[in-house]
Amino acid sequence: MQIAVIGCGGIAALRHIPAIQKLDCAEITAYYDLYYERAKEYASRYGGKAYEDYGELLRHSEIDAVIVCTAARSHCDMTIKALEAGKHVLCEKPMAVSAEDAVAMNCAAQKSGKTLMISHNQRRYEPHIKARELIRSGAIGKVLTFRTFLGIKGPEYSSVFGVNNGYFSREMSGRGVMSDVGSHRIDLMRYILGTDYKRVLSYNPTLDKRKPDGTPIEVDDNSFTITEMENGVVGIIVTSWTSMSGNDRMSIFYGTEGVITTYREDHPVVLERKDGTVEYFDFAYNPDQSETVLTDIDEQFIRCILEKRPPLVTGKDGLAVIRMLDAMEKSNNSGHWESVVCD
Ligand SMILES: NC(=O)c1ccc[n+]([C@@H]2O[C@H](COP(=O)([O-])OP(=O)(O)OC[C@H]3O[C@@H](n4cnc5c(N)ncnc54)[C@H](O)[C@@H]3O)[C@@H](O)[C@H]2O)c1
Repeated sequence: MQIAVIGCGGIAALRHIPAIQKLDCAEITAYYDLYYERAKEYASRYGGKAYEDYGELLRHSEIDAVIVCTAARSHCDMTIKALEAGKHVLCEKPMAVSAEDAVAMNCAAQKSGKTLMISHNQRRYEPHIKARELIRSGAIGKVLTFRTFLGIKGPEYSSVFGVNNGYFSREMSGRGVMSDVGSHRIDLMRYILGTDYKRVLSYNPTLDKRKPDGTPIEVDDNSFTITEMENGVVGIIVTSWTSMSGNDRMSIFYGTEGVITTYREDHPVVLERKDGTVEYFDFAYNPDQSETVLTDIDEQFIRCILEKRPPLVTGKDGLAVIRMLDAMEKSNNSGHWESVVCD
């Protein structure tokens, strides 16, 4: 398969390009970016052709799929244009900046008959796969509560634009950490627990991050949410752009028969049973919490196209995340519990 990378920034270089380079069944042949210079740089660095015009790239029938790695606001436009041109799309998270956009993307996918997958790659981390497997096998009985944390130093440490990155702009990204990092955990908890969000109480302040001119950024840099899920599970989701150790990735699931912890300091997964027995799960490679880990999300995308099966993360999953983010924002503004719209 021939793949085009749309948005030649940090995540394209850190994750998608190296992941595709490892595969025999796919190659990256095209690049597009708002800044042509960036596309040219990636084309000369990784091989392939840079395009100055997105429409021209999409007219190339040899290109089978695109990976949308631009700032969140443009995911909708880039994705719909690609689907309409007959391309499959792997779109970075968050799927969109509004439910309206996400719905339009899903409609375009349905109309085109092409695959739309959202890059919620945290589903593919080995500790998360193991935790889901254990929970589904009943290892901790009925899950009652969870706590999940994801803290990073901030996008200025990974974006190719440093402190001038699009993440700090409401215009380009819609929301801050609640959507950037939060979208990962919102999707992950829903995936691991197999249930939807019902209602939320959320506080999403801007505590520290500033623009180069010294004024506070336009979006939240910390997010604190209590949620009740459809099956009665109650959980806490905390995400941060001010976690200066950069190593806060833990999730804890409390069940009637025990507790599962992922990304504990000593082991990636720990199962503690009510009877006092403890089981540790280690993997061939146990990365440090702050390390950028390649997952097989790109391979999953390509395989589901080749094998003509539904994607691992559907557009409907992406929309469910956006619905939750909408409710979180509404709760932050109202100061009250808010219901999450369920499609
Ligand atoms: N799945 C993950 O773990 C993960 C990690 C980091 C980032 N991301 C997501 O990937 C996306 C990009 O993040 P990044 O860190 O690479 O950002 P970045 O700032 O490093 O790079 C973004 C690139 O996209 C280009 N761009 C922005 N808007 C564009 C548009 N309208 N048209 C064409 N090009 C455009 C920019 O010029 C830049 O080259 C975001 O949606 C982000 O949330 C996902």
